[in-house]
Amino acid sequence: MKHFGKVARVPGDPILGLLDAYRADPNPAKLDLGVGVYKDALGLTPIPRAVKQAEQRLVDSEQTKSYIGGHGDPLFGEQMLRLVLGEGSPARVQHRAGCTQTPGGTGALRLAGDFIARCLPGRSLWLSDPTWPIHETLFAAARLRVEHYPYVNPDNQLDVPAMLATLERIPSGDVVLLHACCHNPTGYDLSQDDWREVLEIVRQRELLPLFDFAYQGFGDGLEEDAWAVRLFVEALPEVLITSSCSKNFGLYRERTGALIAVTATADSLVDVRSQFASVARNLWSTPPSHGAAVVATILANPELSQLWQQEVAAKRERIAGLRQGLVEALAPYGLAERFAHIARQRGMFSYTGLTAEQVLRLRAEDAVYLVESGRANIAGLDAERLDQLAQAIARVTQ
Ligand code: LMR
Repeated sequence: MKHFGKVARVPGDPILGLLDAYRADPNPAKLDLGVGVYKDALGLTPIPRAVKQAEQRLVDSEQTKSYIGGHGDPLFGEQMLRLVLGEGSPARVQHRAGCTQTPGGTGALRLAGDFIARCLPGRSLWLSDPTWPIHETLFAAARLRVEHYPYVNPDNQLDVPAMLATLERIPSGDVVLLHACCHNPTGYDLSQDDWREVLEIVRQRELLPLFDFAYQGFGDGLEEDAWAVRLFVEALPEVLITSSCSKNFGLYRERTGALIAVTATADSLVDVRSQFASVARNLWSTPPSHGAAVVATILANPELSQLWQQEVAAKRERIAGLRQGLVEALAPYGLAERFAHIARQRGMFSYTGLTAEQVLRLRAEDAVYLVESGRANIAGLDAERLDQLAQAIARVTQ
């Protein structure tokens, strides 16, 4: 008997699958704008200097590889609460905020999904349309009912009125996932006034906000990017936040993230965290240690922390320059206005407005790899090759 004879083959992941296709492409002029990975001027994704130095300290000082417990490293947890919620956060000081270490932001999202399915049965989870495609499959795998609120209109413009109108109709008690900054895939972020309106609806409809905070520092700054999360945490008794250290610490493969719960009382936090540990036990038992130990070492050390902040700022500025540079490179083709949004968007990604057909042509004719939705990883661009990309875009759009 063949046990696996009837196992169906499924398509590759829409984002990670692109990496394989790119690596297999023999074209020396190929350009990888697929998976969200930051590249420097040499096209490399080096280990940040602050991370290297923290790793050296760990090699010298680490005494054991024993388990770190269901919630992970307490120092990491404490430092992440400070980074995400802010030094003076009343929720943190009042012991109404707790951090559970997870394998990446994806692990944090799955933990949140399983927690909601187990402890808040019957609640739907609302995602922006569009959103990171893994949100859709991950929450479906957690057996949550997934619904959508609009985010961009068919002209690739942020559509706040449509978003708010749908949020106002969400049944009380449901969970709404909000991208804290650097919206993936669009790069369109809400203004502070927009956030205040969303907060008012969330409060009135008694929705539970679940923030996906994967790009802290890549938008306007480490503090600035946390503005919406902190607004909600100060105004509401209960908030969930998933945080990722993949991009801002460059720890992609170390799978380092956190699920932060803010609860109405310190006592309620103990209940919620007991569930997190229990759910996590069935997913990964205890989280991997190394990446979180690196983060804790950096954040707890003023010198390393300062170096890390400088490195994050340099990445942010480089991405902003590439955005501007691409729009300028498109100008000679008469496309600067059509693609002006690229310079306004924030974070690694741009929802370019290119159609799936145009994306496939770019791949076939120019070896330029974008996600089929038209999302380009601007942080993967090469400043020397902006004209090559602009020429290719001009060819497929005109
Ligand atoms: C992305 O959207 O490209 C990143 O978040 C990486 C991933 O895991 O998909």
